Amino acid sequence: MKFGYLTTALIPQVAAIERECMDEPWSENMLASELNDASSRVIVGVDGDRVICYGGFRRSADEADILNVAVVKDLRGKGIGKQLFERLIDEAKMCGVKKLTLEVEEQNAPAIALYSRFGFEKVGVRKRYYKNRFDALIMRLELEEGLDSKTV
Ligand SMILES: CC(C)(COP(=O)(O)OP(=O)(O)OC[C@H]1O[C@@H](n2cnc3c(N)ncnc32)[C@H](O)[C@@H]1OP(=O)(O)O)[C@@H](O)C(=O)NCCC(=O)NCCS
Repeated sequence: MKFGYLTTALIPQVAAIERECMDEPWSENMLASELNDASSRVIVGVDGDRVICYGGFRRSADEADILNVAVVKDLRGKGIGKQLFERLIDEAKMCGVKKLTLEVEEQNAPAIALYSRFGFEKVGVRKRYYKNRFDALIMRLELEEGLDSKTV
């Protein structure tokens, strides 16, 4: 797998993965607008021509919010999510980000386990955030004091 930035050519594949695994998928237009947003970085992992994972963040000063993160269904549980997160955290550090925040559905055990592994800690809850039913956990990683991604 090789990592790179999202490009226009890769948007249809990323949008297809979004439709497959997100309750509120990002459309091709939404993804295209991330490309034009200087505060946004979307990293894509490809195997040949196939997108197998992606994730991004949006920066504001020295803080950033993690955007959607996904690995294609048939390749989950093989360490790809971990590689993606190492890359995302390194990218955030290179951009001068000191604090990374994300929201995750409280029932999404695989994602919460992945984030916890990288040192993200629960800092709050948004009640009935998803589909007005499920709570969202707010998780945060202080990059200066957090685990170095290379050691995970
Ligand atoms: C969350 C997600 C990105 C993880 O990707 P992955 O490639 O399967 O993850 P990895 O194989 O790298 O596993 C990394 C860690 O995540 C955790 N994990 C992964 N799958 C898990 C599962 N089914 N149950 C519990 N923990 C799990 C483990 O801590 C694992 O580390 P370990 O294997 O050393 O114990 C993937 O499940 C996914 O794309 N889910 C759908 C989209 C989504 O929910 N995104 C997050 C919200 S935007």
